Amino acid sequence: MIDLDPIVRSRFLPEDREIAASEGVTILDAAQANDIPVETVCSGKGSCGTCRVLIRETEPPLPNAHDRRRLSDQQLAHGWRLACQHPVAEDAVYTHPVGVRAVRVVESSGLGRIRLDPDVQKIYVKPADPTLHDQSADWSRIQDELAAVAGDLDPSLEALRRLAAIGEDIGQGITVVIAGNRIVSVEPGDTTERGFGLAFDIGTTTVVGALMNLVTGEEVAVASGLNGQHIYGGDVISRMSVTMRGPEWVGRLTQAVRSTIGDIIERCLDASGVDRHEVYELTFVGNTVMEHLLVGADPSRISYSPFVPTMVDPITATAAEVGLDVLPSASVWVSPNVASYVGGDIVGMMLSANLGRRRGNVLAIDVGTNGEIVLQKGRELFATAAPAGPAFEGAEISQGMRAAPGAIERVRIEDDAIEVDAIDNAEPVGICGSGLVDAVAELVRTGLVTPSGRLLWQEEAEQAVPAHADRIIPDKTGGAIVLYGSADDPDSAIKLHAQDIRQLQLAKGSIRCGVNVLMHHAGLTADDLDEVILAGAFGSYIDPAGAIAIGLVPDVGPEAIRAVGNAAGHGARMCLLSLTARVRAMDLPARVSYVELSAVPDFQDEFALAMGFPAPS
Ligand code: FES
Repeated sequence: MIDLDPIVRSRFLPEDREIAASEGVTILDAAQANDIPVETVCSGKGSCGTCRVLIRETEPPLPNAHDRRRLSDQQLAHGWRLACQHPVAEDAVYTHPVGVRAVRVVESSGLGRIRLDPDVQKIYVKPADPTLHDQSADWSRIQDELAAVAGDLDPSLEALRRLAAIGEDIGQGITVVIAGNRIVSVEPGDTTERGFGLAFDIGTTTVVGALMNLVTGEEVAVASGLNGQHIYGGDVISRMSVTMRGPEWVGRLTQAVRSTIGDIIERCLDASGVDRHEVYELTFVGNTVMEHLLVGADPSRISYSPFVPTMVDPITATAAEVGLDVLPSASVWVSPNVASYVGGDIVGMMLSANLGRRRGNVLAIDVGTNGEIVLQKGRELFATAAPAGPAFEGAEISQGMRAAPGAIERVRIEDDAIEVDAIDNAEPVGICGSGLVDAVAELVRTGLVTPSGRLLWQEEAEQAVPAHADRIIPDKTGGAIVLYGSADDPDSAIKLHAQDIRQLQLAKGSIRCGVNVLMHHAGLTADDLDEVILAGAFGSYIDPAGAIAIGLVPDVGPEAIRAVGNAAGHGARMCLLSLTARVRAMDLPARVSYVELSAVPDFQDEFALAMGFPAPS
């Protein structure tokens, strides 16, 4: 005997079609099985909110947590629910918006080909004129036009004020601007071909913002600035120690980063001529501490055991709530975090590097003051964070500097000379992180630095590497080697000191230790890796061969190492331009197994092992 599921019959509008579905399947599945185009971006996970339906003729089911997160109280009260969250019911009538989301694949600056389906939508409507017989309010008449295409949406106060200002000209037609679940603005006439958003990467050191065209996917303007919090310390630990002084200090740090963001917004608007009220949405990625401070939340508990953040889920707010001078009702979306020390910037990196969906085993490292490491093993993802310190950014190195004109960025030790390249071919004035890696890689290759990290004494060098022995300047702290200039004029020469090499060793040892712990945890060896991705402003400049030579990454061969630039910032742009990408970003943290390095039993041994340089081949 065939065991058939009981059948449930329901009706869908606006198609006005009755369908039959097996009892227990979701409204979304029932619709899809019958070719009824209920919209979905997240494929039924409850995270996109696009599958909303209005339920009539039966009692709507009790809303669950996904309904409450994606639908407003008013929508819930009217009977809207997420179609992916509830079973289809006998005799129910489901009305779904007909879908106005334009989905196109476009070429976007820096992002390549992306699916353009922004959270922001613009719909042009021409409401009926009021009469003495129909005195319904302006908003009600607009809502009548909108209901069929976009469903029941709440207007922001800003949108209502703007509507009032348009006055009688409403009859000429207006454009309604929707971000997510809310109407953020209305504009006179048909402005559907214009719309903008801003995507931000809030780094501990640098903040980068890009003004993006939401209609074409193109970058309109980009600007960056030093994070205004820098006066409170160079890393997240020092920033958190400041916030421990009290709420007033949290406020100061919040104000500092918002002021930097505000300055970047002004520069982007000035450069493009875009009106601030045309910025409808802003997306942010940053490490967990920066994201807390952006929204004014005290992050200090992240700094002490058991290292707990206040929140890791994505945050939605308005521009006014975050104190940003664009359209006050513009939607603000702040990326989810994985853990206290693996933040939204790493979610952005995973998204733009397509981790979790690529083939093979991939190691991705964001090389910075805090080294964040993600390991993809097939479909599994593992992550950890390693405090590398600021050596890779040229800080705490005697003649270190940021990557700016005159910074030595490449070093080659020839048989009888040391060649250096400085940024912009300027006269060398210091050494930046990539130059430091290159220099140490070359010193290890030529034997001037031992695998344990010791700079040869001059007498040893005279035996082992005589052509360069006279570049070594002895001193009580382990000596120095002249990279540029003459050892006879040490004050004007650019030198690398033994303690600089030590700083680099500590930084790379920390990151490599994290890599090794993750590899052991996942049961992988270097031979199993198909690709190594280096991200972050600094990661992009490291010479792959140098990264292998100093042991920063496992020896996978330089051709298997790929620099992806500001992957976190790309992730923020993707989340702005594509709701599909944003939904993926929201799913990623739950897929990551976080490994806390300080809880690894043999951590100290691993760290000591990771400090050494590979013996030159
Ligand atoms: Fe229902 Fe995304 S499909 S919330």
